Amino acid sequence: MNPIEWKNLPFGYFKTDYNVRCYFKDGKWGALEISDSETITMHMAATCLHYGQEAFEGMKAFTGADGKIRIFRMEENAKRMIRSAQGVMMAEVPVDLFCEIVLKTVKLNLKYVPPYGEGASLYIRPLLIGTGAQVGVKAAKEYMFMVFVGPVGPYFKEGFSPVKMQIVRDYDRAAPLGTGHIKVGGNYAASLKAGERAHQDGYASCIFLDAREKKYIDEAGPANFFGIKGNTYVTPDSSSILPSITNMSLRVLAEEMGMKVERRHVPVEELSDFEEVGACGTAAVISPICQIHDRDTGKVYNYCKDGKAGPVSTKLYLKLKGIQEGLEPDTHGWITIVD
Ligand code: PLP
Ligand code: COI
Repeated sequence: MNPIEWKNLPFGYFKTDYNVRCYFKDGKWGALEISDSETITMHMAATCLHYGQEAFEGMKAFTGADGKIRIFRMEENAKRMIRSAQGVMMAEVPVDLFCEIVLKTVKLNLKYVPPYGEGASLYIRPLLIGTGAQVGVKAAKEYMFMVFVGPVGPYFKEGFSPVKMQIVRDYDRAAPLGTGHIKVGGNYAASLKAGERAHQDGYASCIFLDAREKKYIDEAGPANFFGIKGNTYVTPDSSSILPSITNMSLRVLAEEMGMKVERRHVPVEELSDFEEVGACGTAAVISPICQIHDRDTGKVYNYCKDGKAGPVSTKLYLKLKGIQEGLEPDTHGWITIVD
């Protein structure tokens, strides 16, 4: 194998040595299976293929300055996958089983964890699918849970450099009482057309508005949105956005830095009042936004006038990264060390 060029990794699929799988049958989870196959064989009437019984997670492992490998907030991802399973009537993966399989998969692929200082990390992708056959619209009786991993670079190629985003009104990724708050594949299918158009128009991502009134900011593609106004961190509260674990962590860090945190509806017009805005998520980390273009009204909101991320976003980014890489103390128990 050629040496991996850690610094030039995109955010994409990367073949590693092993993945770990577990099957739910007759009402219980079976033994773990280590696989070196990149494929899955399943029944053609599996519910994941027809009725969208599928959920996934995304988290990262980092090599710290001390050489230790740290996984960020694994239990929160496990809990969110339980909520996703409940939302589309799938078998729930218990937190302990989820964590066991994640740790096993990382340990089996240690040579793919990027070294410290390369700007890369090991992306961990847990996947839960309905494998049992149904033709009527019903939940499956059989499921597969699996975890694969791969080294990745920044989600937005700009990394921590500011990106441009586009507000859309002619597409929704999720309905107000739909599945936007859980991490199921259908939300991402629904976001593809708007996301692809944004890319073609020269934007890193689109920003979805609330589906009911189109008045409030929902999410920034595959990441949550935040704005900084004076000493306040503002982030949307909406029933149709994914409760981001990164955002949840940034709210805690912002408060610890003495900031006020507001989680509430964020009207589009309020974009004029923010000094800094950004997208946050596991893949996106913090992606500062330098420009938001409203494709319907033509209005353009500009930030980072000097082309660089603002001071508050930078401080939050460094603090979060510091905890993930062991440079800052883990005072909240967010880190699992892989040993
Ligand atoms: N919103 C969406 C739609 C996402 O796919 C993600 C990624 O997981 C996020 C937000 C960010 O969530 P987290 O910080 O838990 O990765
Ligand atoms: C993540 O941030 O982990 C995501 O899952 C976003 C995207 C790759 C779906």
